[in-house]
This record gives sequence, C-alpha cells and structure tokens, in this order.
Amino acid sequence: MRVRSQPGLTFDDVLLVPRRSPVRSRGDVDTSSLLVEGIRLHIPILSANMDTVTESEMAITMARLGGLGIIHRFMSVERQAAEVARVKRAENLVVENPYTIAPETTVAQARQLMEEWDSGGLLVSDADGHLLGILTTRDVLFEDDGSRPVREVMTPRERLVTAPPGTTLAEARRILHRARVEKLPLVTEDGRIAGLITAKDIVKREQYPHATKDEKGRLRVGAAVGVKQGELERAEALVAADVDLLVLDIAHGHSDHAIEMLKRLRATFGGRVKIVAGNVATAQGVRDLAEAGADAVKVGVGPGSICITRVVTGFGVPQLSAILECARAAREVGVPIIADGGIRTSGDLTKALAAGAQTVMIGGLFAGTRESPGFTVQRNGQRFKLVRGMASLSANMSRHDSADVDPDQIVPEGVEAMVPYRGSVVEIVRQLVGGLRSGMSYAGAYTIAELQENAEFVPITLAGLQESKPHDVHVL
Ligand code: XMP
Repeated sequence: MRVRSQPGLTFDDVLLVPRRSPVRSRGDVDTSSLLVEGIRLHIPILSANMDTVTESEMAITMARLGGLGIIHRFMSVERQAAEVARVKRAENLVVENPYTIAPETTVAQARQLMEEWDSGGLLVSDADGHLLGILTTRDVLFEDDGSRPVREVMTPRERLVTAPPGTTLAEARRILHRARVEKLPLVTEDGRIAGLITAKDIVKREQYPHATKDEKGRLRVGAAVGVKQGELERAEALVAADVDLLVLDIAHGHSDHAIEMLKRLRATFGGRVKIVAGNVATAQGVRDLAEAGADAVKVGVGPGSICITRVVTGFGVPQLSAILECARAAREVGVPIIADGGIRTSGDLTKALAAGAQTVMIGGLFAGTRESPGFTVQRNGQRFKLVRGMASLSANMSRHDSADVDPDQIVPEGVEAMVPYRGSVVEIVRQLVGGLRSGMSYAGAYTIAELQENAEFVPITLAGLQESKPHDVHVL
C-alpha cells in the first residue's frame, strides 16, 4: 500500500496566475490544437461519445465549428456506420458518388428516398450511369399522382447545366450563379455521371471557414468502439464508412483487454484510421496505451458530470492532477492527450489545456442542446433534456434484451439526470472559446503551446474559491 504525498487537485482547487501579456486582442490568439498526428482542430473541443450527446447532428455541428464529434456506440453496427456516413455526406468539395435513381422510379418512391437520404435533389440515370435528368423536391411537391415515373416530371438532361470532371470550385460557383441553379452534375464526355457540386456545399464552405475537414473536403467524424466480441466488426464497418478516428472507449482503459483490443485494431487497420484509447488517469496508463499503438490517449477516471465511479469503486484521480501527470508522460512518448470529463466552464477548459491536454471532451454541458439526441421535456414551465452516464442503470438496461438481464446484477457507475435545455450548442461553444481566448491573453499566450509553457497554477483554499465566484450580492 502506498499513499501519495500530495493531495490530488481538480479544476476548482487551483487558479492560473496572470502574467504580463503582449496579446492586445482576444482575436489575435490561435486556439488550434493537435488532436492526433495529421488532424488539427481549430477549436480544441470534442463532443462525448454518449447516447445523450453525440449522433450525426451534433457531430456535423461540432465539425463545422472546428471541433469534432464522436458518435457513441450504443446502437447497432449498421446504424452507427450510417450515422458516420451522414456526417461524411453532409458537405463535400465534390460529391463523388451522388445518389441516383432510375427513370422508372415512381414519384412516391422518390419522395421516400429523398427523405431517407436527406437529399433535396436526386440525379436520374440509366443502368450504365448516364445522366438522364435531375429530380428535385420542387418537381414532386405538388404532384398528385404518386405512381408517375420520375422521367415524366424530372428536369431532363438537355435542360441541365453540367460541367466536366475536374471543374474547380471557383468555376462551379460562377456556373451555378450564371445559370441560377443549385446543383452542377459533373459529366464525362460520353455522358456518364462523375460527381456533383452543390451550391449548399459552397455556401457552407464559406460560412464555416475553420471546419474540421478531410482531404476530400468532407467533415471529419470519430466513432466509439468497445472491447467486447463483435467490436472488431463494428470497427470494420465504421472504417468502411470512412470514419476518421476510432475511439476505443472503456471505463478502465488501462487494462489488459483494452490493450489487446487496441493492438488488434492497429494490426487490422495499420495507418488507415486514427485510434484514440482510454480512459486512464496515470502516466503508466498513457505509456502502455501509446506503446500498444494509440494515436492519442483519453484521460479521466470519474470526473464526469454523470459519473459515480469514484463513489461506487473508490477509484479515480482528481482531474487536474490526472491531466498534469498524464501530460508529462504523453510528452515523453509523443502522443497528445484528451482531457475527458468535468468541464463546466471556459475556466475549466483553459485550466485543462494549460495543464497539458491538447484537447478536451465534453458531455453533460452539451447534453441539453438542440443538437444532442433526444427530446426536451417540460417541468414546472422549464424545458429540460435527459443526460445519462453510459454505465447508468437505464443505459445498461437498454443495451441488453431486458428479458434476459437481471437489474439486480447491474452495478451502475453512472446516473440519469436532467439538464436545462440550452438552445444550440453553437452558442455554448462560442462562450467556451471566447473564455479560452481571454484566458490565453491573461497567460500572455498566442497559442495553446505557449499557454502550457507559461501556465503557473496556484492552489487555492475554500475561501479563495468563494472569493472567485460572485459573493455578497444577489445575482440577477
Ligand atoms: P462530462 O463532465 O463532460 O463528462 O459530462 C463526460 C464523460 O463522462 C464519462 N462517462 C462516464 N463515467 N460513468 C462514469 O464513471 C458513466 O456512466 C459515464 N458515462 C460517461 C465519459 O468519459 C464522458 O466522456
């Protein structure tokens, strides 16, 4: 048995000491950070792989803002792969394989496909891939006869504006403007479909200049996998859907079965996909996962808003100490770390990054947003959304066929809770990043690396914590 000589610290136990700063404007600082080698985020924030936080809608928004979403794994393999595909299709430089339908497809079938594929315009082609026309929502909106073939209502090939493969975005922008149309099919000399450029993609590109994108201009997305049987097949389906990052996610990531699974994933995919592993709370945990092939390591045992791991098991390390210790080891072995859990404010975010994390993962704070899965509920005239730990009783129950799971055998390590509905996650991220930018200017730092270099933490007492919050006033 050992007892550490220093108490563990978390965010509220410390403050950052201000220092002379050359930063004149918050706008001058650069919040970008390395998630894993080859993927840099404009804002160092990930949305958590929890079933009340991240599915495709959250992931699309996070990537557009310059962060990243990790799709949770508590759904079928097919559905999780489809969620990944939805993010990858949300924006493109060029849609390489646009959705196509046959000319005999009925209007009713086309309407259904448009909804299923979330697409307002489908290319109509023959069996050899020759472009025959375009069908848009406007063509079918007021068509009373659902049994008509789409060839009778589509805009035919001869009335379409098209361009050859290799057309640049700037050229496409000009052509779309001149013709006042929204879709530009790319067509080979012999009339076959070679791609599609849409006005929507061009507008989004201009609207979100810092979006997190892959080399094909598609939004990046991560997805979680576990260690149990069948998870390698899950990983294969996700990689086939072009996921950018797998997150091997188990509560105790510093365990033999996590390390074995990590090695298996690495052996299967080589360098084809980035792999994050976790969670750990010690230097040795970081070293072992890095050695087993992790591109980044996720840090945090028990700090999460809905976690009761520390209460139930007695294990955990206060999050700031965990980050400090893991960051030292991570620098030695050359992998970035992701601080996961316990972030409530932009001050916490700044402290986590200053302590050595390259990025942070956020769950509870994003759970009450429009983009998180689930419905809002009304209580006493206020709107709420559900958040639950992935090791909570209800999450455990919904993973099993409830007929053969005995609730008495489950030992939950998470809780179910309600959080106030907070509107769009865009506003929360804006506040977080605004606070981080201010914090960086207090540290005299233009970059996250300088923030880490310049950071000096001062432990504070309970009196110091009280002083740090509004006091002796009635807050409105
Ligand atoms: P926040 O504080 O942002 O933390 O809500 C999100 C992180 O909490 C972890 N998580 C859990 N930890 N039991 C736990 O001990 C759980 O049931 C549970 N569910 C999520 C996870 O690391 C997440 O990213």
